[in-house]
Amino acid sequence: MPRPILATISVPAMQHNLATVAARLREQARALRRDAPRIWAVIKAHAYGHGLAQGLAGFAAADGLAMLDLDEARACREAGWRGPILLLEGFFEFEDLYEVDTLRLTVAVHCEEQLSMLEAAAPAQPISVNLKLNGGMNRLGFLPEQADAAWQRLQALQARGVVAEPGTMMHFSRADDDPVVTAFQLSGFLDVTRTMGGPVSVCNSAATLTDGLWARLPAGREQWVRPGICLYGASPFAGRSPESLGLKPAMTLEARIISVQECRAGDSVGYGHLFTAERPTRVGVVACGYADGYPRHAGTGTPVTVAGHPTRLLGRVSMDMLAVDLTDIPAAGVGAPVVLWGEGGPSVDAVAEAAGTVGYELLCALAPRVPRKMIPASNAGTDFHWMQETTE
Ligand SMILES: Cc1ncc(COP(=O)(O)O)c(C=O)c1O
Repeated sequence: MPRPILATISVPAMQHNLATVAARLREQARALRRDAPRIWAVIKAHAYGHGLAQGLAGFAAADGLAMLDLDEARACREAGWRGPILLLEGFFEFEDLYEVDTLRLTVAVHCEEQLSMLEAAAPAQPISVNLKLNGGMNRLGFLPEQADAAWQRLQALQARGVVAEPGTMMHFSRADDDPVVTAFQLSGFLDVTRTMGGPVSVCNSAATLTDGLWARLPAGREQWVRPGICLYGASPFAGRSPESLGLKPAMTLEARIISVQECRAGDSVGYGHLFTAERPTRVGVVACGYADGYPRHAGTGTPVTVAGHPTRLLGRVSMDMLAVDLTDIPAAGVGAPVVLWGEGGPSVDAVAEAAGTVGYELLCALAPRVPRKMIPASNAGTDFHWMQETTE
């Protein structure tokens, strides 16, 4: 029998989350009497750890898919995705432009070097480009004072038929926690791009879920949002649960109890003896550790659910195992089901918070050794079945 640990990836949950976000945007758009923005579903990092095939199935209704790598883009085309694909970091070498052209990709253009590579290119058809501006994150993009010159160079490339009508994009650095900084970054972007046309996209999940933020962009331009994490059912906001945003977890990590220890008051548990029992304590040992992607920095008190009962982690997470408190769950013994995060257990955000990180990291860090099952798309027929997925 394989080690009892399993990650279940729910395509219907992804479909639900995309539909929830789209409905919310449509509702706002109706109230404002304008068109709702289109949605780039962000599927980088193997669809935030859920698997590219699952992302493709879950977001088949998106207007476009955004990712990082040519490999991912090629896999999407091979899987039959005909819609727009946005490479969020653009291309890395001149040779990449051949595939950008043949795969009909939209690329972010964020630096001088990329502009120079485009100026040396002769693609078979005009390449779709989004000029990426640095709104204050200082990661990628042209500064406000560089933007006009970059835009002029793209205009010249458009006149030569090397690029299609350029668009513009920006990425907020604090959309999840600081509306004042976000409003400032947006105003700066609007100022710099006032005379620029083409499609425009600025909103990640947090900004997409901040009512009306996207609507501050000029109505005359084709609008896109770029949500990622919320489509997987995790919250972009600290302290706001995914349920409160109408989201469902797309990944559920489950394991089983493989041993039970009856500890007396004064006994300690695990490496470093970080937990010492103050009363007689039943300790369940779970077949999940940091080599599975569970965060080692999660300490005593991290939420976990055993046989449907919320309880807590005890002591230090080890490579292949972790300990949980079964004292108040007397019926739970060896074989009892444990939900580490997801459906029927704590949210990945709650576990991440206890470990001093974010849900993004936990989802992306699910280890290759964890077997995965996929719940197929809800429109795949009523004959609900489990499908074994190959590990990516
Ligand atoms: C440029 C860009 N757009 C959109 C996203 C999606 O962000 P989120 O997952 O917070 O929605 C990311 C994620 O890092 C990104 O880098």
